[in-house]
Amino acid sequence: MTIIRPERPGDEAAIRDVIASAFPTEAEANLVDLLREAGRLSISLVAEVDGAIVGHVAFSPVTVDSGATGAGLAPLAVHPSHRRTGIGGMLIQEGLAACRTAGVGWAVVLGEPRYYSRFGFRPAPGVGLLDEYGGGDAFQAAELARDGLPVGAGLVRYAPEFASLEG
Ligand SMILES: CC(C)(COP(=O)(O)OP(=O)(O)OC[C@H]1O[C@@H](n2cnc3c(N)ncnc32)[C@H](O)[C@@H]1OP(=O)(O)O)[C@@H](O)C(=O)NCCC(=O)NCCS
Repeated sequence: MTIIRPERPGDEAAIRDVIASAFPTEAEANLVDLLREAGRLSISLVAEVDGAIVGHVAFSPVTVDSGATGAGLAPLAVHPSHRRTGIGGMLIQEGLAACRTAGVGWAVVLGEPRYYSRFGFRPAPGVGLLDEYGGGDAFQAAELARDGLPVGAGLVRYAPEFASLEG
């Protein structure tokens, strides 16, 4: 059985391991540690199968010049041994639900539109939101509350810790 739950103290190493298993380098695992240390790991959920952590999703604050704050979904990781069983989707859905509960009105993600569109994400340039990385239509936004999306707000900035992914 798969359980989705918030991370707890003591999960840090297992979260590092599952993120590192899903990406070519440890950059994304390091990013999650940096966000946690900075107090900007707003939502951090793990997927547990038979007591083992096999998936993780992080959300951190994103901002636009008007001052509106949303949630940036990144990274999302499922261990290669447990893919295509819906765990990634469960993490996204529970994560977006946690954003709503926290009163966050919008979320963004940089990823494959064919995957994220099923969770309510739409290309963000279409609603006047752009990312810092030239993602184009891979940069997607989801409205989580009525009129929650800051339509036309322009550049969306991720937390400063994301600069560690560059270079
Ligand atoms: C992306 C990822 C989290 C999906 O996890 P998962 O548990 O396999 O996802 P689900 O089981 O919910 O969904 C799988 C479905 O999404 C599709 N899918 C997953 N990633 C996709 C991608 N990058 N592009 C297109 N489709 C994708 C699969 O083809 C599959 O489709 P199907 O259900 O029609 O067969 C996992 O593949 C992963 O960890 N990848 C490496 C890290 C990564 O790229 N993370 C996302 C960017 S931050």
